[in-house]
Amino acid sequence: MTTPMNRLTAELREEHRIASELLGHVEEALDRRNPRAAERALLAVYEYLEPHSRKEETIVFPLVAESCPGGKTAVAEFEQDHRKESELLEEFQGEVALDSPAAITLGRRIVAHIRDHMRAEDNVLLTLADFKLGDAEVTSCVAGKTRRRTVAHS
Ligand SMILES: [Fe+2]
Ligand SMILES: [Fe+2]
Repeated sequence: MTTPMNRLTAELREEHRIASELLGHVEEALDRRNPRAAERALLAVYEYLEPHSRKEETIVFPLVAESCPGGKTAVAEFEQDHRKESELLEEFQGEVALDSPAAITLGRRIVAHIRDHMRAEDNVLLTLADFKLGDAEVTSCVAGKTRRRTVAHS
């Protein structure tokens, strides 16, 4: 059965796939040792991921934190990853502005960080969301009425 959460998680997984392709452009620029081109490509990735991350933070994170065993711990890590993403971008832009050789290494770290994060979300967060959450919970959450729920199926 397809639930709203299944549709949402399918959409988020597809966005991970597209973001991963966009990260390929960053890697190409880093391989050419062109930090400014890497910065432009990376900004496109961040711009693309902005509404994606908001959906995770406002819909999926709260539901998984409240509904799944171990959900709070998992979600805390994903939230920390999102904060780290912002910090790394700022650091990277600082290195690029200084024409620092460290920009290339840092750029690769950022690509790895985002890829690892998306892989973990696919394997843990979205899988938990698919298994644990049904129609009513998502609908009520999206409507902003309540985040409390009971497990409909397991
Ligand atoms: Fe995320
Ligand atoms: Fe994500």
